[in-house]
Amino acid sequence: MKEIKVGLIGFGTVGKGLAEVLYSQRERLVKRTGMTIRLAGIADHGVRELPEKFADVPLTRDARELVSNPEIDIIVELIGGIEPAKTFVLEAIAQGKHVVTANKALLSQEGAEIFAAAAARGVEVGFEASVGGGIPVIKALKEGLVANRILSIMGIMNGTANYILTRMTDEGIPFAEVLKDAQRLGFAEADPTYDIEGIDTAHKLAILMTMAYGMPITHHQIATEGISRIEPMDIELARELGCRIKLLAISRNHGDHVEARVHPTMVPQDHLLASISGPYNAIHFQGDTVGNVLLYGQGAGMIPTGSAVAADVVDIARDIQSGSIGRVPSLSYLPAEMRPRRITPMDELYGPYYFRLTVLDQPGVLAAIAGILSKYEISIESVIQKGRKKVGAVPLVIVTHHARESAVRGALEEIGNLESVTAPVVKIRILDEEE
Ligand code: HSE
Repeated sequence: MKEIKVGLIGFGTVGKGLAEVLYSQRERLVKRTGMTIRLAGIADHGVRELPEKFADVPLTRDARELVSNPEIDIIVELIGGIEPAKTFVLEAIAQGKHVVTANKALLSQEGAEIFAAAAARGVEVGFEASVGGGIPVIKALKEGLVANRILSIMGIMNGTANYILTRMTDEGIPFAEVLKDAQRLGFAEADPTYDIEGIDTAHKLAILMTMAYGMPITHHQIATEGISRIEPMDIELARELGCRIKLLAISRNHGDHVEARVHPTMVPQDHLLASISGPYNAIHFQGDTVGNVLLYGQGAGMIPTGSAVAADVVDIARDIQSGSIGRVPSLSYLPAEMRPRRITPMDELYGPYYFRLTVLDQPGVLAAIAGILSKYEISIESVIQKGRKKVGAVPLVIVTHHARESAVRGALEEIGNLESVTAPVVKIRILDEEE
């Protein structure tokens, strides 16, 4: 029976998940592929000993031993971050090895160079686990939706941020405490600011946009806001307004330009995305032939992510066996067909908004704010004032009708300069019902 040898770099959460999945599913994989997939080496800086069941797998501290080992067919990079991951990936490709990675930071920043090197050397790069944890979203986009013009992508793509928002909403637990739980459960990135500030979500959106539209894009081109300024009060007010706050990735394809944004969003409670809880992710595509598709599953965690990495290993093993390496282009589009597209400037967005202001509770304050909004042609849908204080500030919430983001920016700058406004304004976009 043919044997495919895998070299694993990085025995952290996802690395352990892959080893565990290959071990627990070995007989099923033989039945499904007619091959044995063997872990032929693990490289990790900090691991001194492997668990008993992997005792026969050679362990090294030096990843280059795996990258240069002629026996190994596939290198799986699961150390994360840009360097030394990029060097190991490029060296593996140069050695003619196929690569599997879950590294969204690397692909969303250095993907162009890595995919070009792989195409030139005739090897495959699998990256299913880079978006949506265990959800087979990459394969769905690349193969299941191949006969579609993708009209929009919208989703919850960070398990940690969704877990934090969910527990803050359902249990009223403070932000910092929930974050600790997410780290303990292995959902969070090594640097959790990536999760909280929306950067990890932007990495993932960049990968999906590249594949959906056949356009090169890095995460630096995506307007990104995180959830660190969301307070329990906003979550409570959202509830009063019939919404839940979610960190959404949104991209709409307008033909000559495409939206690319990640930000906290007020999602109406009856919208499908409002019900996605905990570390779960959900990614919605609209295709011109298929219509709406929603993919849902565990977006983070050891075993679900290990399942996605294993799926890539199996795909490559099958292509090796059938002599069909490169049958499906890594990014779905042929490299020569990739075209840059204009990204819609945020100022051009048009939708409803939630503003939470902290204002002195005095006559004329609301009139001054309403005057500025009117000057910018921003129409108010509702106003909520919480509490009453003779001395000190109170929260004042304004929900708007559809407004242009450039106008909102100008108005909030002026409002922020009023003496009666005592703290920075919190602005949250409300999901446009048509989205
Ligand atoms: N830190 C990521 C998350 C892991 O929380 O979703 C999966 O990419």
